[in-house]
Amino acid sequence: MPNKLSYNISKRDEQVIWHPFTQHQIEPHSIAITHGEGVYLFDEAGKKYIDAISSWWVNLHGHAHPYLAEKIYEQALKIEQVIFAGFTHEPAVHLSERILGLLPAHFQKVFFSDNGSTAVEVAIKMALQYFHNQGNTRKRKIIALADAYHGDTFGAMSLGAPSAFNAPFQEMLFEVEFIPSPIDPEACLKALQEKMLHAEDYAAFIFEPLVQGAGGMVMYSAETLDSLIACAQANQVLCIADEIMTGFGRTGKFFAIDHGHQKPDIMCLSKGLTGGMLAMGLTICSDELFNAFLSADRHKTLFHSHSFTANPLTCAAANASLDLMEAEGFWEKIEAIIESHDRWIQQTNHPALKNLRQTGTILAFELENGEANDYMNPIRGRAYEHFIKKGVLLRPLGNTIYVLAPYCISQVDLDYIYTCIQEFADELVG
Ligand SMILES: Cc1ncc(COP(=O)(O)O)c(C=O)c1O
Repeated sequence: MPNKLSYNISKRDEQVIWHPFTQHQIEPHSIAITHGEGVYLFDEAGKKYIDAISSWWVNLHGHAHPYLAEKIYEQALKIEQVIFAGFTHEPAVHLSERILGLLPAHFQKVFFSDNGSTAVEVAIKMALQYFHNQGNTRKRKIIALADAYHGDTFGAMSLGAPSAFNAPFQEMLFEVEFIPSPIDPEACLKALQEKMLHAEDYAAFIFEPLVQGAGGMVMYSAETLDSLIACAQANQVLCIADEIMTGFGRTGKFFAIDHGHQKPDIMCLSKGLTGGMLAMGLTICSDELFNAFLSADRHKTLFHSHSFTANPLTCAAANASLDLMEAEGFWEKIEAIIESHDRWIQQTNHPALKNLRQTGTILAFELENGEANDYMNPIRGRAYEHFIKKGVLLRPLGNTIYVLAPYCISQVDLDYIYTCIQEFADELVG
């Protein structure tokens, strides 16, 4: 339970903290969380919230998971941090072996960084320098998808579709060519094919496989993904799968790419990688890519690092999370969520709820309020407040509501979330 000192955390916060993705003039108040357990968060007044978005899509096994906490503690007593250039350690090697064991065989090298955006930065640097190191000065262009989001650092912002998120920086972002959304598979593939007429100019094609998250939980099929990857690879354009949101079971398989036949050249992982305990990014590639950086000439090195690269505590958390994913009953929990969302979609027919859709454990739909489907749709604030009042953390992307819960969520809590959604939808038409 919170101690007395902690009762005014929210008030003290307002004096000293600038929060992410927060317009402080209209959202001055942050809820102070004192502890969590399973799918629940508890605030300083003792109110309980169901974390229906896994705290920005990171949490897999529930909050304050004792097994993850123990493994981090055990590791902290051995070695908490060591420079990762010229040194290595068992938790990083073990984690790399395990992650490679889960991926198609051509993935053979793991590069560590600190979060999703940095995993993407590394992927882009790898792809561009791969050609540069071979003396190819033409392949410099990158293709991304409409509605894409790959993070908030400058490189990652450049790869994101133009939006409110990156608007103030547009003229400073490097040029990326966007092709139409894969929800229109024909238009998307046609645009990629047209670009491939000048394939010698393109180094890489980056995409969020099956579900484009921050762009509005845009969902598309594995067949479409297959045809896009095949088209790019047939033209020696490297395919980068950003599985930062979709990895670790979210789509019903370990990785979203497991739904298709075509495999990318580079993968980016983060978020669920540590079960949501600590921040880490991985960028994974083949030996063919890695070998293009081998040289007696040090100029061909991949000069990228962060102070906490492959932090042993973070690696211990990731290894522990993989243990939990291997434990008996783990995939049954995912199956139960998939079936529950499916049943709800089948039985829901409401004029205020449009485009109900699901990919694995991710459920999404749009609220119909007569305004454009957009991140700035004003219904967002009203919906967020409604759910918070009801003790459910749902954080709409404009008028897009999605449920992306930790896998330990119960049917009772899922049903409660559906009921809260239904009530809000009734309010909208009533
Ligand atoms: C697909 C995707 N890529 C990259 C990122 C950036 O990750 P991070 O917030 O850890 O920098 C996100 C974050 O939401 C994401 O969803």
